Amino acid sequence: MSRIVVLVSGTGSLLQALLDAQGSGQLPAQVVAVGADRAGIAGLDRAETAGVPTFVAPVGDHPDRAAWDRALAAQVTAHRPDLVITAGFMKILGPATLATAPVLNTHPALLPAFPGAHGVRDALAYGVKVTGSTAHLVDEGMDTGPIIDQRVVPIAEDDTEDSLHERIKVLEREMLVEVAADLLVRGFTVDGRRVVLGPA
Ligand code: GAR
Repeated sequence: MSRIVVLVSGTGSLLQALLDAQGSGQLPAQVVAVGADRAGIAGLDRAETAGVPTFVAPVGDHPDRAAWDRALAAQVTAHRPDLVITAGFMKILGPATLATAPVLNTHPALLPAFPGAHGVRDALAYGVKVTGSTAHLVDEGMDTGPIIDQRVVPIAEDDTEDSLHERIKVLEREMLVEVAADLLVRGFTVDGRRVVLGPA
């Protein structure tokens, strides 16, 4: 059974979708640990409720980002993941953590538009008529890794950041489960900027 480590910073509704899909058999993998960059967040509560081991790696516990990266990588590696998923993890990963396993992220905008911490707010402010979510592999840039899948969400006249983000997250949860299952079951290779499903 493939092993997944999930990293969270917030409410963890994407994590919950992964746990539910594991329970229903839609995701033929096991979430073996959930890590966070701060204590006391709902994402950690969800993991504990599901009986999944957790760890916390705050940046502020370390002299610099490189030391934090090495500490986070050590925590992740201890759980021997086949795939790491950043599910609303709001820190940029460093090279040590990126070397532990392929890292899958979702971003709440249609990359390469609106990268960064405020993808929903920035799309609304720009006035685009459609936005959505992007599933991509993580590299050392900010939301720059190869794109695997995208889902489109129309923007309504009366949308707020919260109402739009909630509609994006509905599609994002489905996409994340499907993409994680595809990567783990079918395997994949990266050809330039394209992620090609199938055995290496
Ligand atoms: C999701 O929309 C995810 O794409 C986004 O945070 C939300 C987490 O929701 N991630 C980023 O913005 C990363 N740049 P959740 O805490 O309910 O799972």
